[in-house]
Amino acid sequence: MKVMAHRGYSGKYPENTMLAFEEAAKTGADGIELDVQLTKDGQVVVIHDERIDRTTDGSGWVKDYTYEELKKFNAARVKGDQFGFQPIPSFEEYCAWAKNQSLFTNVELKTSIIYYPEIEEKTIALIRKYGLEDRIIFSSFNHLSILKMKELAPEIPCGALVGDRGLKYAGFYCERFGFEFYHPDFATLTEEDVKECKAHGVGINAWTVNGMEGLEKLVEWDCEGIITNYPDVPVKYFKARNND
Ligand code: G3P
Ligand code: MG
Repeated sequence: MKVMAHRGYSGKYPENTMLAFEEAAKTGADGIELDVQLTKDGQVVVIHDERIDRTTDGSGWVKDYTYEELKKFNAARVKGDQFGFQPIPSFEEYCAWAKNQSLFTNVELKTSIIYYPEIEEKTIALIRKYGLEDRIIFSSFNHLSILKMKELAPEIPCGALVGDRGLKYAGFYCERFGFEFYHPDFATLTEEDVKECKAHGVGINAWTVNGMEGLEKLVEWDCEGIITNYPDVPVKYFKARNND
């Protein structure tokens, strides 16, 4: 089972910052999940919300700032004052770093509230520029966005993200649209969903699983991946199991 660090090692470090990504890599996680949005000047940036208010010391919409303006805000503020200054990373900065890591990246396109023009094209261009094509999974709650990714880069796997209502017949749905993975909110996932996905050759990467109970259930159900705020927990768990 693959371990993905949700917004980096966000349980301990400020989410979606280079610090959280570097610390995630140190845990031995297999992958990193991050979120992308677009600035006023069309730069792909790594931040979860459409607004900067919750995670930084600024306020307003990502889409209303240029990247030069945006990078002056402190994204470490989401964890108080303990991590100094951490800027909002550009996706290019992330790709340049990831190129020299063995990790894969789950890039979540945040296009459900604002459908940023050409965010898919801009994101894939950076992935190709840094040669990361074979270490990417795209996901989005907006399935039109991953359908577009399938047109632009059919070789890159996609996961259909679904929120707290879950998705009945997710395996059938994903297979029908050519999505390799179902990314459910773990709270909605049942053993029947897992069986149905397996019958359609669709993998499951569940989020956000922070406790041991959820981890053990996913292992028992033989799911493909876990997205967690504390990647060190499943990494240690799998190491201990392998040494048994
Ligand atoms: O990709 C899994 C998870 O990140 C989806 O929800 O809101 O944390 O981006 P959110
Ligand atoms: Mg996300």
